[in-house]
Amino acid sequence: MSSRQWAIRAAVPLLVAAGLVVPRASAAPLSGAAPYQDPSLPVPTRVADLMSRMTLDEKLGQMTQAERGSVSNSDVTTYRLGSVLSGGGSAPSPNTAASWADMYDGFQNAALATPLGIPILYGADAVHGHNNVVGATIFPHNIGLGATRDPALVERIGRAVAEEVSGTGVDWDFAPCLCVARNDRWGRTYESFGETPELPSSMATIVTGLQGATLNGPASVLATAKHYVGDGGTTGGVDQGDTQLSEADLRAIHLPPFRAAVERGVGSVMISFSSWNGARLHGHQYLITTVLKGELGFSGFVVSDWNGIDQIDGAPGTSALDVRTAVNAGIDMVMVPTAWRQFIDLLRAEVQAGRVTTARVDDAVRRILTKKFELGLFEKPLTDRSYTSTVGSAAHRALAREAVAKSQVVLKNAGNVLPLARSGKIFVAGRSADNIGNQSGGWTISWQGSSGNITPGTTILQGIRNSAGSGTTVTYSQDGTGIDSSYRVAVAVVGETPYAEGQGDRPGSLGLDAADLNTIANLRASGVPVVVVLVSGRPLDIASQLSGWNALVAAWLPGTEGQGVADVLFGTVQPTGKLPVTWMSSASQQPINSGDGKTPLFPYGFGLTYAQGDSSPPTAPGTPAASAVTSSSATLTWAASSDDVGVTGYDVIRLQGSTETTVATSATASATVTGLAAGTSYTFAVYARDAAGNRSPRSGTVSVTTGGGQTGGCTATATVQSQWSTGYVIQVTVTNTGTTSLTGWGVTFTLPPGHAVTGSWNVTMTTSGQAVTARNAAHNGSLAPGASTSFGFQGGRPNGDTRLPSGYTCG
Ligand code: BGC
Ligand code: BGC
Repeated sequence: MSSRQWAIRAAVPLLVAAGLVVPRASAAPLSGAAPYQDPSLPVPTRVADLMSRMTLDEKLGQMTQAERGSVSNSDVTTYRLGSVLSGGGSAPSPNTAASWADMYDGFQNAALATPLGIPILYGADAVHGHNNVVGATIFPHNIGLGATRDPALVERIGRAVAEEVSGTGVDWDFAPCLCVARNDRWGRTYESFGETPELPSSMATIVTGLQGATLNGPASVLATAKHYVGDGGTTGGVDQGDTQLSEADLRAIHLPPFRAAVERGVGSVMISFSSWNGARLHGHQYLITTVLKGELGFSGFVVSDWNGIDQIDGAPGTSALDVRTAVNAGIDMVMVPTAWRQFIDLLRAEVQAGRVTTARVDDAVRRILTKKFELGLFEKPLTDRSYTSTVGSAAHRALAREAVAKSQVVLKNAGNVLPLARSGKIFVAGRSADNIGNQSGGWTISWQGSSGNITPGTTILQGIRNSAGSGTTVTYSQDGTGIDSSYRVAVAVVGETPYAEGQGDRPGSLGLDAADLNTIANLRASGVPVVVVLVSGRPLDIASQLSGWNALVAAWLPGTEGQGVADVLFGTVQPTGKLPVTWMSSASQQPINSGDGKTPLFPYGFGLTYAQGDSSPPTAPGTPAASAVTSSSATLTWAASSDDVGVTGYDVIRLQGSTETTVATSATASATVTGLAAGTSYTFAVYARDAAGNRSPRSGTVSVTTGGGQTGGCTATATVQSQWSTGYVIQVTVTNTGTTSLTGWGVTFTLPPGHAVTGSWNVTMTTSGQAVTARNAAHNGSLAPGASTSFGFQGGRPNGDTRLPSGYTCG
């Protein structure tokens, strides 16, 4: 026995004397290699062998996650802790990548010093780069990445973040937030990739970036889909509030991104602080165990949020009721930053009293250990320092700069004041022009983030100076004083200062504050054209000022690489960013979302390009697929086109012989064609357009036959809830359009060749070749006239095939 282990065991009587319960030491020390230590054995065999050697206290330790500031290395050994985290801004001193690695190795060696030598998982919030580490590359917050509409770019960012995280030892990232932000008042809006279920679902590619192809690959980091589920849907946009929605809406809006993450093998899921219709998610057995682990087939482990279980009983602190409710609901690892000793004692008592079964404990521990083995932690427990030099590397900063440029959304450009010319005099002003802290936002170096020079990077002002070159004079004053009419253009970089979580909730005004308005007023008084660059975590209420601004760019929270903002301002990179959220006309419209019928200032998907001189057309859109075909309408969906400057929209045409008639236009790769005749065959195709009016080649054609238009009967309308390269989830709404009650219904539809249904709910499905018949389940067969019900199914398709099922008919 090493002297370190001896010292720890000698300390046990002292702890007992102090009234603390201490885990029993494991039985005999291992002699020779045990099966669980043999990497050639399958993971389930290793897990089973290891668990057969574990005491209850060793299992409870695995389920416990303590915060680094509240736990010592010897606590990790003594209490057999399974995990340690860094909360927001919780870092070793000095805060360098190398000292993170040293800290990590210290904790890990303490875990390895236990009789069974089970490594810990160290978790941190690397939510836009490894943001707790000074000198790390800070990428745009998710709202900006949503604006790029580029899932492949986001996957590359995941890879870069995983390398930086690995270089500090950390093996578990509490990211991505797959929240669907439905109300811009919510302080975490910037953690969302966007307001539609499709956009965050498409960005689940970041899970693959973080975890790599396999969990024990180079620089693989365990990802976390958070916060399950409905965190972005709370009434009033209140952080940790109540999401009041029907189950169908919760499933349609907030569940799809989690399905996409599970599909990509996400290793962990974090539970939301919020409630669903008044019930706390941290105690929600139906949503955690039945839906997530059962229906979605999530096989990783579920972690609670920071002290999240404490809120279950509504009283402060951790109670026995909190503990048993959370664990019985299906939480496997509990984030108890400071009160972890108390948690272990409470959980042990609940198990001993039979209120938490040992089977539940074993299930939790099996899930946690499985990920530890899959990550290769037993073989490679210490920091891989070959990645330490990637923290803040030039290659990662170049990737961040690319992402920043692609995330810029040009919302107004009167008189083509943009792109800026490299000549004459440019005046720059605003609180966020020369401020790395402001442009990075919350979750940067500290939890809330802060203004100022908090970590190395390029400010937007420095980016402008670099881009302007020596032939241009760039003058800066923060409040805009000192400008005169000799300037060709003024750029105001204004918006929000850093915040995180509930501290960013804005129940009142969503406008610019007096300091920013004053800065812009100073610039305007000179008569020089004003370009406003908004650095903010969400759309702001600016409709009443917009007419006085010549141009407006939404820069979101770009992070450390402000050069990417300048790249777009000067046209070095053409703007291609599209709004990931609807932009309100006034704060009183909140919540405002795509499809809700409210009139926005700028719609979801909006974003201008610099059109001049563009003569190259977009690529042909994919062949459209038809869904939700009724007697008078059909929805067409196609693979998007690409364009050097950006696709601005699509024209759907009807083809009769060689005659083309435009029947719909759309800003997105989907449109519903209405006003069709019943029982009629139509042929449709699609063109893409760019801002200069260039038209793409025509897509392939699709034929659609509308329903018979009978007065009795029913319709089936399909909506794609999420899709990824190898599959999709579709919800079908069945409506009784007749005048008498239906006592049973059936929907038929057709799968493209090579596709298969892999799961369904609220329905019984039979397949014959490519034809699928869906019959009502026992509970939803009766439909009164006008009533609707829905069912869902999941389909698989060959990688890269973008087609979808079609021809939904109800009878
Ligand atoms: C921590 C954060 C945590 C927050 C929750 C802060 O003190 O640093 O990581 O998310 O508390 O309230
Ligand atoms: C946040 C989580 C975060 C955790 C750990 C919580 O307050 O809600 O998103 O992962 O703290 O820092």
